[in-house]
Amino acid sequence: MIHEMFEMCDDTTRSYKIRMATMKAVQIHTFGDVDVLKYEETERPEPQAGEVLVRVRAAGVNPVDYVSRQRAIPITTGAAGVSLPYILGWDISGEVVALGAGVTEFAVGDAVYGMPRFPGEAKAYSEYTTAPVADLARKPQRLSYEEAAAVPLAALTSWQALFDTAHLQAGQTVFIAGGAGGTGHFAIQLAKWKGAKVITTTSARNIEFVRSLGADVVVDYTQQAVEDVVKDADVVLDTVGGENLRQAFKVVKPGGTVVLLPGHKGMRELGEELAARQGVTFALILVHPDGKELAEMAQLFDAGKLTVHVDATFPLQEAAQAHKLSESGHVRGKVVLTVA
Ligand SMILES: NC(=O)c1ccc[n+]([C@@H]2O[C@H](COP(=O)([O-])OP(=O)(O)OC[C@H]3O[C@@H](n4cnc5c(N)ncnc54)[C@H](OP(=O)(O)O)[C@@H]3O)[C@@H](O)[C@H]2O)c1
Repeated sequence: MIHEMFEMCDDTTRSYKIRMATMKAVQIHTFGDVDVLKYEETERPEPQAGEVLVRVRAAGVNPVDYVSRQRAIPITTGAAGVSLPYILGWDISGEVVALGAGVTEFAVGDAVYGMPRFPGEAKAYSEYTTAPVADLARKPQRLSYEEAAAVPLAALTSWQALFDTAHLQAGQTVFIAGGAGGTGHFAIQLAKWKGAKVITTTSARNIEFVRSLGADVVVDYTQQAVEDVVKDADVVLDTVGGENLRQAFKVVKPGGTVVLLPGHKGMRELGEELAARQGVTFALILVHPDGKELAEMAQLFDAGKLTVHVDATFPLQEAAQAHKLSESGHVRGKVVLTVA
């Protein structure tokens, strides 16, 4: 629903009013616990040249969302720092409702999905947001808006880690630490689609889930060390991080590749040191928007070769509940906010 806000001005000779289009959004005025999340009326953005205005139907929730709520993190705020209030979130699906100058790639009415501007501000937790056309793709037809919003950040991360960074090939073995989460559950499927053998870790309650996604060997990390099962992986994708990174280097073969996702303090240095000692390639990556890769994945979804698991959905107004669940660290697949 488009709201209108009237700003009354008085220049002493006459009164006039400026009509501003507004919308509802979840924004923060200060960093902190979930109670800093405010569902409020704010100004609706206008698409600039090369951008479209998207009526957001659903917004995906990622761990970077709650970290950006807790504190100003360098990857999302840059050297200049973030300007508050700040509308959280990156993953969106919705409909194109207006075109900026020069846009020919999309038409009004197109259903789209994407992760605009990451790590810049995307304002996903809102009724409307703008996005550069290069950051969007048409929504997979087979997916609902809720499912499509769960895809971009986690799936692009897995695609860029496995294919753009590690150059995973058919017949290779990949160990995916943390196969049941947002990134992990896409990584298993993408690696299987590529023709690789997949070994993954999960707790007992998710063993059947990751098997259903195609994992060949599943290790319950609460019961067994993965290095007792595999020692010669061509590629390791570590979605867990922290001290778990040492395990990645016990499992990768000389000449192999370790890709790390969580950027915990000191882990880049640890990874580089272990990689140099073992003759392994190491990369701590940061996902970037890519409409072409999203379009390729849309084809896989529509062909039934890729699926998305949505663990829970919450209305936008209940973003705090969604963050609490994400912060538990044990989401199966994804959490999504629906935008009425
Ligand atoms: N660098 C980047 O560009 C980038 C991009 C995306 C994500 N990330 C980071 O990567 C991490 C993962 O992201 P995500 O979206 O996949 O998170 P997520 O969805 O919150 O991951 C939750 C999953 O982690 C599993 N898990 C927790 N502890 C584990 C352990 N010790 N061993 C194995 N599995 C474990 C849980 O399975 P169980 O319940 O079975 O334990 C759960 O399914 C986050 O730190 C995120 O910030 C970085």
